[in-house]
Amino acid sequence: MTNQPYTPEIQRQYFDLSKQWLAKPVTPSADHLILVGDVLRYHEWRYYVQNDPVISDYEYDQLYKQLESLEAAHPQWKQPDSPTQRVSSDLTDLFRTVVHLRPMLSLDNSYNAEDLRSFDEQVKKLNFLSADAEVVYSVEPKFDGGSIAVVYENDLLVRAATRGNGVEGEEITNNIKTIRSIPLKADFGKSGIYRAELRGEALIAKEKFRKINAEREAEGLPLFANPRNTATGGLRTKDPRETAARSIDAFIYQLGFAEDPTGRIVTDDHGSHAANMDFLGSLGFRVPSDVTRVCQNIEEVIRYCSEWEAKRESYPYEIDGMVIKVNSLEMQERAGYTSHHPRWAIAFKFKAKQATSTLLHVEFQVGKIGSITPVAKIEPVQLAGVTVSSVSLHNEDFIRSRDIRLGDKVLVERAGDVIPYIVKPLEELRTGSEQVIEFPKNCPVCQHPLFREPEEAAWRCVNYQCEAQVLQRMIHHVSKDAMDIEGFGRANVERFYALGWLHNLADIYRLDYGKIAALEGFGKKSAENLREAVEKAKNNPIKRLLHSLSIHHLGKRVSELIAAEVDHVLELKDWDLDRFVAIKDVGPVVSQNIIAFFKQPDNIRMLEEMEALGVNFKQTDQDRAKAVAVDAPLAGKTILFTGSLEHMTRNEAQAMAASAGAKNISAVSGNLDVLVVGENAGSKLTKAQALGTVTIWTELEFLQQIGKEKP
Ligand code: IVH
Repeated sequence: MTNQPYTPEIQRQYFDLSKQWLAKPVTPSADHLILVGDVLRYHEWRYYVQNDPVISDYEYDQLYKQLESLEAAHPQWKQPDSPTQRVSSDLTDLFRTVVHLRPMLSLDNSYNAEDLRSFDEQVKKLNFLSADAEVVYSVEPKFDGGSIAVVYENDLLVRAATRGNGVEGEEITNNIKTIRSIPLKADFGKSGIYRAELRGEALIAKEKFRKINAEREAEGLPLFANPRNTATGGLRTKDPRETAARSIDAFIYQLGFAEDPTGRIVTDDHGSHAANMDFLGSLGFRVPSDVTRVCQNIEEVIRYCSEWEAKRESYPYEIDGMVIKVNSLEMQERAGYTSHHPRWAIAFKFKAKQATSTLLHVEFQVGKIGSITPVAKIEPVQLAGVTVSSVSLHNEDFIRSRDIRLGDKVLVERAGDVIPYIVKPLEELRTGSEQVIEFPKNCPVCQHPLFREPEEAAWRCVNYQCEAQVLQRMIHHVSKDAMDIEGFGRANVERFYALGWLHNLADIYRLDYGKIAALEGFGKKSAENLREAVEKAKNNPIKRLLHSLSIHHLGKRVSELIAAEVDHVLELKDWDLDRFVAIKDVGPVVSQNIIAFFKQPDNIRMLEEMEALGVNFKQTDQDRAKAVAVDAPLAGKTILFTGSLEHMTRNEAQAMAASAGAKNISAVSGNLDVLVVGENAGSKLTKAQALGTVTIWTELEFLQQIGKEKP
């Protein structure tokens, strides 16, 4: 990292100052004003040159505004090279520059409902309207790509340019001609228009971007950073084939101007922005009509903006906000322009999805099956409107592959409903005092040594009695997915556990509701509700009970498959591997875990207590398999094996019967269809014979029936 204008020390200093000023605005002084300019220039360099910003756009805007207001209050301190004096520009000397027919201005930004309301007030004032008048706005997405201006003359696309510095842009006509959503010819003539300039945004669909990067990865090429840069880079390559290869799309969002052959502006006195967009759509341009809404007043605008803020991720293109435009062209004209932006439009910026923070320390949390999850505690930051102070680091490999260290400045992202995650550490901002994150060798709660299976990402504490696990298992047990005890939840488990009332799952069924009613925040009524919820859960089908036990890999689906095959949960004590894996879709790994669970005397004791407390352990209608293969030889039959079998073990026999469609039951009763007798069959045979309704087979007859007769 040589040849850089900023040393690591300066970078760290500027980063820290930025965060400091964002928390508490700069105190005005001539020196500070210069310093803020320096810091902003640094961030511009990170953003535009390094393509790797260390603060969010929002944070940059806030600092920029601080400088603007300092300069407004103290004009004598204003520097000639202040960042506020710059006209932003993407000009290079790679392309010929052309002067836009009308300057391409920028947009003012807003961040909340209040900002939008004051914009609305301003628009009304500029239009001499009373405060209670309603202005109609057109609201559309703010595309995060590269802006372009395209000129048509005599119906033909004659010129296209980047925004450049707003006055002049780079001529990129040949590249733009590869974009399929921009017609090479459009019938402006029929509306009397000889020349028109349209503004829009070139960008790449998120899905397309992922595909391009996947292909580049497969070919060993460096990956593109984001859809935006892939699009803007694609517009400005010297080889139009490269532009074409990136499948760039273009949305048109403004009719810049239109004139007739004599140079007179073609206008429609009652024209609106929405009508202009419809017109361009009818000529074959791509306009954002699916997301555009004409709102009758600013409150409707506000609602529409927050609606899109919540679902921005679902849009196929990156959008970073909404753009609000006064719909009437006449009112636009009256509102006018500043040198920087039109007064009739404003951008509503969505809250930043990314922010930088500092990794303070790492906590190692123990999950219900003993998996150790490292969780980064970070300096709290606002992400998409939520304060984030904890971020999962997933596992040791995640930490190592990104080389995340204690004390690092980290880039954190929270997109939509996705849980926040660390994108990367900012290595350039390291001081050298950052420390490698040591993964513990022992469980942080019970000190038991940790193990890691070769195929698994997580280190695990295999001590089933580990307090942390006991607690997490109880939280899982009462959860919606498992026993679904309404109103119990994590908070109550933690509270009752801390009070010493819960030691294992059985304790959940012997709580003292008198004591609970006396707790702060409870009362008779809520204690009674809880009791009823617990009572109700006792009748759950056994598939829920199986899933609630927190056996590694025993999820909902496998619990269901097994529940369909057992009469009583405790029968699983006697099942061996063959018996489990005979069930379609039940694998050997989860089977071993279940076997190990039912081998533990402590677990059996706990289950027996639960049953004694009234928890249902017997198969219910909801547990029975819905679809039995009707053509299976023993479909719909119940079966029982007795005596010692000669050709197979008891478990093998039961597994075979199950795969032949039979259900194994454990006692002779009127429900039993078939009894298979081995050597020394005893009372079960006598009882079946006495009933007279049970079919009795020898072991060989059984094998014949299921088509596996042995010689
Ligand atoms: S209208 C005179 N509409 O945002 C008003 N701009 O931050 C010109 N942008 O330079 C802009 N989506 O590149 C407008 N629907 C939209 C937009 C949009 C994205 C970009 C445009 C502009 C920048 C300003």
